[in-house]
Amino acid sequence: MSDRLRRMRRTEALRRLVRETYVHASDLIYPIFVREGQTAPEPIESMPGQSRLPVSHLGDEARKIQDLGLGAVLLFGLPSQKDEAASSCYSPDGVVQQAVRAIKKATPELVVMTDVCVCAYTPHGHCGVLNGTEVDNDATLPLLAKMAVSHAEAGADVVSPSAMMDRQVAAVRATLNQCGLESTAVMAYSAKFSSAFYGPFREAADSAPSFGDRASYQHDYANPRHARRELLQDIEEGADILMVKPGLAYLDIVLRARELCDLPIAAYAVSGEYSMIKAAAERSWIDEKKIVLETLTAFRRAGADLVITYHAKEAAAWLNNN
Ligand code: PBG
Repeated sequence: MSDRLRRMRRTEALRRLVRETYVHASDLIYPIFVREGQTAPEPIESMPGQSRLPVSHLGDEARKIQDLGLGAVLLFGLPSQKDEAASSCYSPDGVVQQAVRAIKKATPELVVMTDVCVCAYTPHGHCGVLNGTEVDNDATLPLLAKMAVSHAEAGADVVSPSAMMDRQVAAVRATLNQCGLESTAVMAYSAKFSSAFYGPFREAADSAPSFGDRASYQHDYANPRHARRELLQDIEEGADILMVKPGLAYLDIVLRARELCDLPIAAYAVSGEYSMIKAAAERSWIDEKKIVLETLTAFRRAGADLVITYHAKEAAAWLNNN
């Protein structure tokens, strides 16, 4: 029996020798906001250091991201036109479709993921089509499937349905297969909770609901068993990667997801988490680098294979210099 646990904590070399958890740049996914009809980056006020980028800047951005060794990018579109039918979401010349092509041209090897949801494409800002004031689950499915197909046709490696409609993964998978896109993977936002941590994102993506909230489709944050049922359904429906979102306040869900199955698990450190760290760091109340590396390690320790984070570029630079 070792009653002297401090023996293995005595020096940095010993601590490194027995370290259990690592974070690599290749585990990190960087979200990018792409805005149509714009020529210069537009800083996002509530997310210091992040901007909405024009398509013309994506080639350079993708090369930087590839040089940093990041695992992937995840694209969010801001279209110049919104309508009730969210028609620009599946247009071959839509902003995300253009963005995917621009990134694949500059960096064919870089993994490109796209968010598949209509909230930024409709004037009402809900994640599905409306029937009165209700979000119509089954009327939304073909729209999500068409959007996913158009992203895949533009060259996306992974499409990521985030609308939280029932059977969205099955609909996307089946339509991809029908269109000969069997090799496009699906990352499912399975355990996506209705959360105040998304606040800054809704400013960034101009996607706040104009009435009500998302509680009728996103999970109640008090309900881990309900979220587990959706994780199981998404496995059944053919997901390749499962996601838990938000991140830091939901590490118990990450651990449950890890123990539930052998699929890769992604944790999303969402906009509010990023902005809280930035705001405190700007006041020198915390050490940003140390906080970020500690939280990223916590995600990995809880069982996440992948972490989606707005800190990805900074974290990669810190990790590469360690
Ligand atoms: C779209 C979507 C949202 C986020 C990712 N995809 C916003 C929402 O559900 O309101 C949030 C990401 C973040 O806060 O960083 N449905």
